[in-house]
Amino acid sequence: MVLERDQDIQSSHIPVVDLSNPDQELVARAVVKASEDWGFFQVVNHGIPTELMLRLQNVGKLFFELPDAEKKAVAKPPISELNLKDRPDSLEGYSRKYEVDLENKKGTVDQLSHNIWPPSSVNYKYWPKNPLDYREVNEEYTRQIKMLSEKIMEWLSEGLGLRREALKEVVGEYMMVVNYYPSCPHSDLIQGLGPHTDVSGFTLLLPNEVPGLQVFKDDHWIDLEYIPSAISVFLGDQILRLSNGRYKNVLHKTTVDKERTRMSWPVLVKPTQDTVVGPFAELTAQGDPPKFKPIAYKDYVYRKFRKLSIDDS
Ligand code: SIN
Ligand code: FE2
Repeated sequence: MVLERDQDIQSSHIPVVDLSNPDQELVARAVVKASEDWGFFQVVNHGIPTELMLRLQNVGKLFFELPDAEKKAVAKPPISELNLKDRPDSLEGYSRKYEVDLENKKGTVDQLSHNIWPPSSVNYKYWPKNPLDYREVNEEYTRQIKMLSEKIMEWLSEGLGLRREALKEVVGEYMMVVNYYPSCPHSDLIQGLGPHTDVSGFTLLLPNEVPGLQVFKDDHWIDLEYIPSAISVFLGDQILRLSNGRYKNVLHKTTVDKERTRMSWPVLVKPTQDTVVGPFAELTAQGDPPKFKPIAYKDYVYRKFRKLSIDDS
C-alpha cells in the first residue's frame, strides 16, 4: 500500500551534499550514492552566488505579476502550429494552466519555459522583455548552472566507470522553466503537478521558500525541507536509461499552499532531439543485459506525453 505520508520517514533523510567539502572524492561518492538510492538530492555551497539566485527569482516573480496581456506577449504558440513529431518538447513560451477542479482534485500551474543553451537553440521571442534585466540575469544564471551541471555529470560518469565526458557528450541542451502555483484556500483538495518523473536527463531546480515538493521513496511521499540557497537535483528518465538503471529517476509531485504563492525554477538538462539514447555500451559489455532499448530522445518524449508504450523488452 502506498502511504500518503509517514512521520517516520523524515525529510532529513533526503541527501544533502555540500559541494565545498575539500575532499572532492567524498563529494563525488555522495552524489553517486544519492543517485543510485534516490535519484534525488540537494546541493549546498554549489558556487552559484546567492545574489544571482535572488535576482533570478525576482525577475521571474515580476514577470508573473504582470497583467495577462503582457504575459501573452511570450505565449506558447497554439498546438496546431507546433511540429510536435520533430520537436515534441519544444514547448517554449508562457501558458496559463491554472485551473481548480475540486471534484477531480485537479489544479495545475502557470508556466514559462524557454531554451537557454546552446545559443543555437535560443529563441529570444520567448524570453520576457519585461522586466528589463530578465535576459541579462538569465544569461548569467545559464553560465553558472551549466558549470554546476557539468560538474555533476562528470561525477556521475565516473561513478559508472566511464570517462568523465561521457554524459556531457550526450546531454547538453538546457531549458529554463518557471513554475508559478498561486495560493489556493482549498489547497488540501488540489495538487500542483501530479506525480511524474522528469523526461529530461536531469533537472536542477531552485525553489522559492514556500514548501510543496514531495519525492517518492520506498512507498512513501516525503516532504522536501527548504534549505536557503540549495539546489535540488532530480535525475530523469534519460540518465536512468543511459546508466542501464544504475541511477534512479525520482518520482515527485507538488502541492499548493493555502496562503502563499509557490514558485520554482527548474532547468532541464537534456539530449538533443535526435540523439538516440540507450544504455552506454560499456555498461552492457560484461554480461549485464541492456534494460532499455535505444530510442531517439524526441520519439521517447512524444511517446511518453501520449502515454504510448516505450518498448523496453
Ligand atoms: C517539476 O516537477 O517540474 C516542478 C517541481 C517543483 O515545482 O518543485
Ligand atoms: Fe518534475
